[in-house]
Amino acid sequence: VLIRALRQTDLARVVGALAAIDRPRSPELYSRYLAEQAAGARIVWLAEDGPFFLGHVCVVWSSGYEPFRVEGIPEIADLIVMPAHRRHGIGSQLIEVAENSIVERADLAGIAVGLYADYGHALRLYLRRGYRPDGRGIAYGGRTVPPGECIRVDDRATLQLVKLLR
Ligand SMILES: CC(C)(COP(=O)(O)OP(=O)(O)OC[C@H]1O[C@@H](n2cnc3c(N)ncnc32)[C@H](O)[C@@H]1OP(=O)(O)O)[C@@H](O)C(=O)NCCC(=O)NCCS
Repeated sequence: VLIRALRQTDLARVVGALAAIDRPRSPELYSRYLAEQAAGARIVWLAEDGPFFLGHVCVVWSSGYEPFRVEGIPEIADLIVMPAHRRHGIGSQLIEVAENSIVERADLAGIAVGLYADYGHALRLYLRRGYRPDGRGIAYGGRTVPPGECIRVDDRATLQLVKLLR
C-alpha cells in the first residue's frame, strides 16, 4: 500500500471508485481539494495499490469547527477506505500519515465523527488510537448544539475528538 498526496490525474479514478460503492462525489469536490492542497490549506492523502484506489484522508489546517480553529488544532477529515479493503489496517495507516504531517506543526490533532452506526468503525478506530472527546458535546454543521435543542442525526451531527500528539 502506497500513501501519497492526491494528484490531478487521480480524480477520475477516485470519483469512479466512490460512485461504484454508492458514495457519489463530484469531480468538483476533488478539484476544490486540489486547489486547497496547492494553496497549503489541505493535504489529501491517498492510499493505492498499483492501479487500485484504496482510500483517502484529509488534513485541514484551519478547521470549519470553531473551537479547533481558534485553538489552532488541525483537523483530520474525510477518511474513507473502500469496503473491499477494510479491516486490513489501511484506515489506521491513513490516520498515522495524517498525524505525522500534523505533528510537525501542532501538538493536537482533531477529528469529527458522526453519531450513527455507519460511523461505528471510525469511532472505534479513533478511540483505539488515543482520541478523546473535546468535552464540548455534539456539534451540528460545526456549531456546538446547546442543551434542549433538537437536531437531525445525519452526517452533519458530530462529536469532536482530540489527540495529544507530542
Ligand atoms: C472507518 C474506516 C475508514 C476504517 O477503515 P479500515 O481500513 O477498515 O480501518 P482498520 O483496518 O485500520 O480498522 C478497522 C477494523 O479492522 C480491524 N483490523 C485492522 N487490521 C486488521 C487485520 N489485519 N485483520 C483483521 N482486522 C483488522 C480493526 O481492529 C478494526 O476493527 P473494529 O472496528 O472492530 O475495532 C472504514 O470503515 C470506512 O471507510 N468507513 C466508512 C466511512 C467512515 O465512517 N469514515 C469516517 C468518517 S468520521
